[in-house]
Amino acid sequence: MNKTIETILDHRSIRSFQDKPLTREQIETIITTAQAASTSSFIQAYSIIGVSDQNKKDQLAEVVGNQPYVAKNGHFLVFCADLNRHAQIAEMENIDVIPSIESTEKFMVSVIDAALAAQNAAIAAESMGLGICYIGGIRNNLEAVQSLLKTPDYVVPLFGMAIGYPAKVNDKKPRLPLEHVYMENEYQQDTATFIKQLEDYNQVISAYYRERTDGKREDTWTEQIGQMLEKKSRMYMKDFVQNRKMDLR
Ligand SMILES: Cc1cc2nc3c(=O)[nH]c(=O)nc-3n(C[C@H](O)[C@H](O)[C@H](O)COP(=O)(O)O)c2cc1C
Repeated sequence: MNKTIETILDHRSIRSFQDKPLTREQIETIITTAQAASTSSFIQAYSIIGVSDQNKKDQLAEVVGNQPYVAKNGHFLVFCADLNRHAQIAEMENIDVIPSIESTEKFMVSVIDAALAAQNAAIAAESMGLGICYIGGIRNNLEAVQSLLKTPDYVVPLFGMAIGYPAKVNDKKPRLPLEHVYMENEYQQDTATFIKQLEDYNQVISAYYRERTDGKREDTWTEQIGQMLEKKSRMYMKDFVQNRKMDLR
């Protein structure tokens, strides 16, 4: 155990922040740690848009499905897959990179890069005593987000991150048992073991919600995830991404 591991293991999403903006120095530290993450072939295929304009934050909070902590926090970041600067390299180097940039592979590279940068930022913020909440709700209405943030072709906003001084801290959410997610040498397909692990985990999650909500909620993990997956969501994504000239081949 060391301080880094303690910080990582102490994570829980924060959805209520004090009315205290981050300093420029805090923001720059967080972004610099994001940039220190590994990046596929050194491509650095992401951008981070910090939203400090309160009017824009209010509009974003509505667009993401009325999540008030998108408007009320210390700072709000939007992580974007970004191959726009790479498209411009083509002109500088007088070569054709467009067929490569417009591929599913490069889109995946940019999404992976952005996610790695974001998680570095999250851990850095948490190590500074701040709390974070990722906001996938950004993808509820990407047209609106795109027009608010003026993102060009080859850029897809992926998720937001609210950061700030916590006003309310929930209990940590227990994760799946390690044996359920970690396999050695080959994929583990033993259905009986798999189901047993899920049943045990369901008990843990049910107890977690019962405790957290004074008994008002006690759904299991498989119930919760099953209900979520029963509904299709954001089915416009492929069209949106392809309209931004990514994931085309
Ligand atoms: C990419 C991503 C998008 C998320 N989007 C939202 C969101 O829109 N709103 C929200 O309240 N939480 C959001 N979350 C937070 C998850 O709900 C949370 O991480 C999960 O329930 C586990 O809880 P914990 O972070 O407290 O451990 C998101 C998390 C990730 C990684």
